[in-house]
Amino acid sequence: MIPQETVDKIIEAAQIDEVVGDFVSLKRRGTSLIGLCPFHNEKSPSFNVSVNKGIFKCFGCGKGGDSVRFIMEHEKAAYPDALRYLANKYQIEIAEIESSPEAQIVNDRRESLFIVSAWAAKFFQQQMLQTEEGKAIGLSYFLERGFREDVIKKFELGYSPDVWDALTQKALSEGYKMEFLEETGLSIRKDNEKVYDRFRGRVMFPIHSFTGRVIGFGGRTLKTEKSVPKYVNSPESEIYHKSNILYGLFFAKKAIREEDNCYLVEGYADVLSVNQAGVENVVASSGTSLTVEQIRLIGRFTKNITILYDGDPAGIKASLRGLDMILEEGLNVKVVLFADGHDPDSYVQKFGSAAFKTFIEKNKQDFILFKTSILLRDAGNDPIKKAGMIREVVESIAKIPDSIKASVFIRECSSLLQIEERSLISELNKMRMVKAKKESYPSQPSARDQHPDEPPADLHMEPETSSLAETDENQEKEIIRLLLNYGHELVHWDGITDTYIAPYVISNLADVVFENTECRLIIDEYKEKLEAGELPSDQDFIKHSNRQIADMTISLVSSPYILSENWYAKRKIFVKDETENLRATILGGIFHLKKRKVEHILKNIRDEIQQETDEDNQAILMRRYLQVKEVEKGISQFLGSVIIK
Ligand code: CTP
Ligand code: MN
Repeated sequence: MIPQETVDKIIEAAQIDEVVGDFVSLKRRGTSLIGLCPFHNEKSPSFNVSVNKGIFKCFGCGKGGDSVRFIMEHEKAAYPDALRYLANKYQIEIAEIESSPEAQIVNDRRESLFIVSAWAAKFFQQQMLQTEEGKAIGLSYFLERGFREDVIKKFELGYSPDVWDALTQKALSEGYKMEFLEETGLSIRKDNEKVYDRFRGRVMFPIHSFTGRVIGFGGRTLKTEKSVPKYVNSPESEIYHKSNILYGLFFAKKAIREEDNCYLVEGYADVLSVNQAGVENVVASSGTSLTVEQIRLIGRFTKNITILYDGDPAGIKASLRGLDMILEEGLNVKVVLFADGHDPDSYVQKFGSAAFKTFIEKNKQDFILFKTSILLRDAGNDPIKKAGMIREVVESIAKIPDSIKASVFIRECSSLLQIEERSLISELNKMRMVKAKKESYPSQPSARDQHPDEPPADLHMEPETSSLAETDENQEKEIIRLLLNYGHELVHWDGITDTYIAPYVISNLADVVFENTECRLIIDEYKEKLEAGELPSDQDFIKHSNRQIADMTISLVSSPYILSENWYAKRKIFVKDETENLRATILGGIFHLKKRKVEHILKNIRDEIQQETDEDNQAILMRRYLQVKEVEKGISQFLGSVIIK
């Protein structure tokens, strides 16, 4: 039991922004802080923290509460454990009566596993630092490898004596239960009879959860025989799930957030050496291939990953495909290749910290370009191989959710591969089309970014008022995209004689001012050309001297489904081919933008009414409001009818 007095003290000390900030990268927006919700998977932040109110609230999944609640949710901790965590964070002493290990172990299995793991880490540490065998074998090994004592302490490295069951016997004698020793894998029971230690005669690397609790171990042998596995690791247990653990994350997360970058290395030794060199934003995948969970874990702290590879070409090639996953998660990936048999550990140990940092700065390469150059080298002049590699590269680019970013890569790869941007874009479009199709069929729902409790949207649904706060960028981009793709097409709609789509769109939007700078520049230039009697083509803008305009254009013409970012997707309409019903597509684009603009006007009038104190003025405003509301209704009805057709 924790005395109420202490509970109050803990709650008072806990600062919501600090508590949440240990797990979520928060950015200031207005009076609150926002970030990516750790409780559901999302790409744009809807997780709010109010320091004044001392609470967090996610507008995506609805979770909310105070600091204690946050820890309970995040760490799956019971109330007292959340308090203990916070007490520890704020160095508040809890005057609990010390209980025997036996008493501590009651009921809570998970907690018992944590406790025995923490105990074991201490045991290994003691064995290394305080016994003759430990000092002579374990500690001297680490020192010889060049690890400093402060790093050895920080990572709680240890040594497991070369005795059949030293740990097991000691643990049992101190009251720890066999059940938990076995579950954590510290002890192994053979044929229900003989019990022995898993990590005999190895140097020990405790693996921490990202809240800093020991959850497992890696043990390295000191023997050189090939028959002995170099590492033995803890098995999966209730507290240790390999797929969502990164070695070193607990020690790295603060630096990752500060540097806004995470170095990813392969092994325990790399993490230690790089850390020792003063580069603390480093984690290891521990030799296994990266999982989505691990990427998301990093993604909570930064959107930038730099992978430090030791250069074995075959290994690199094999891992390339797996890295597309990182792109898919919307993270930026850079790659540094260590050559001459070096890995980050050996490099930094040999050349020192400064040389290491310079090496990274000089050699880091963007992943897509890295992949392109590796595959290019591989393909040589073989045209078939080359065609295959182009597909592979474009496949990676297609995984990038941000279309502007993708378009930049298209350009760079086009020059690397010496292929016209056009062909890359058309390849990209094909892939996106396939992807969009897959995602549109309800039978194959994409699990990402969908909240099960979201009401099914239908065509006539009013737009959420919350989205009004955002810009009209998507609608504006959609218009530009339509102009660029279809502006030059000849149509005869509504009994009007043949007309090009471009002037049709432009005249319909004569009264609309575009907010987005690039969109505005494009449409203005488009208008100018039209007025001069020219019909602009997408190439005019793809090759535009203004880089921003060119990038925007490429991203728009390479993403046939920008619409999917708003209403088509929300309403789960599958547009097999938008040209099939070009009239609906164009009118949809025009009137959605108009609707947004009208909604802004309505909101402004509402605000004015609220601030107006004079009753007569209020009445005038009210009348205006109703008039505009009629216009909005008209647009909505029109949209409903035109799209259904
Ligand atoms: N690994 C493992 N089991 C093995 C070999 C490797 O689990 N038999 C994992 C470990 O997490 C290791 C990582 O893969 O840290 C990378 O392997 P390696 O580069 O061989 O290990 P290092 O940590 O670099 O060890 P050292 O430098 O001491 O050889
Ligand atoms: Mn190594």
